[in-house]
Amino acid sequence: MARSRTSFADMKRRGEKIVVVTAYDAPTAQAAAEIGVDIILVGDSVGVNVLGYAHERDVTLSDMSHHIAAARRGAPDTYIIGDLPFATYETEDQALASARALRDAGADCVKFEGADAELVRALKASSFDVCCHIGLESQHHAEKRRQGKTASAALKLLEDARALDAAGQDFIVLELIPEELAATITREVKAPTIGIGAGPQADGQVLVVNDLAGITRRAFKHNRLYGALGDALRSALAAYARDVRSGGFPGPEHAFRLSEEEREAFQR
Ligand code: KIV
Ligand code: NA
Repeated sequence: MARSRTSFADMKRRGEKIVVVTAYDAPTAQAAAEIGVDIILVGDSVGVNVLGYAHERDVTLSDMSHHIAAARRGAPDTYIIGDLPFATYETEDQALASARALRDAGADCVKFEGADAELVRALKASSFDVCCHIGLESQHHAEKRRQGKTASAALKLLEDARALDAAGQDFIVLELIPEELAATITREVKAPTIGIGAGPQADGQVLVVNDLAGITRRAFKHNRLYGALGDALRSALAAYARDVRSGGFPGPEHAFRLSEEEREAFQR
């Protein structure tokens, strides 16, 4: 059984940081579960990071279900948040049907972008765990820029966070907002806040696995590079290609031989 959302509310109360990372496939989810991350986010960032799409908006509900199911197979006991992709929560009925699809695929909780408190109420009424997401909204903002840069923009985001909290959100992702704003929201809302590019005061942090492990070659101010998996993959592939071309692979230890008896029969 995956942990319940209430244990994360307890972590917030105790001031224990919540570790969240994206994963889009079984082996990555398994690795995340094994090292004990608290929550796996199957984000619509799967589109750009794994599927080769130009934009998050290209991600479909069936893409999300496919990848949530894979992550679930890799991490049967980890709490999984799944993104409702672009244009799949435009009406309440559509949102509920989309959320059901993600839950059927294995999500414990569904996340959507924007300040729609009514949608939180509708999802909660149908007993979904709900993660909100404000600040930079990849699905809705044309450019990946910092949000809440002026006092009035920051106040608007604070009001949005309060309204979503009053509606019963279980988590809220704060993306690319000033740390003072993230700290204030974190203090004022009941739900655990999960920051990305939102400073150290959020209740938890989330990073995209491709970014933190260095799978994709992109540099972001909000990211710290903890690995060089992209480089490791390229050198493994290059060494393999070299060995095949030189005849160095496969070696005798990689081949199978007929038994003496079968060889005689075969060669007759
Ligand atoms: O899709 C995603 O990876 C996300 C995180 C950036 C929060 O929504
Ligand atoms: Na997302």
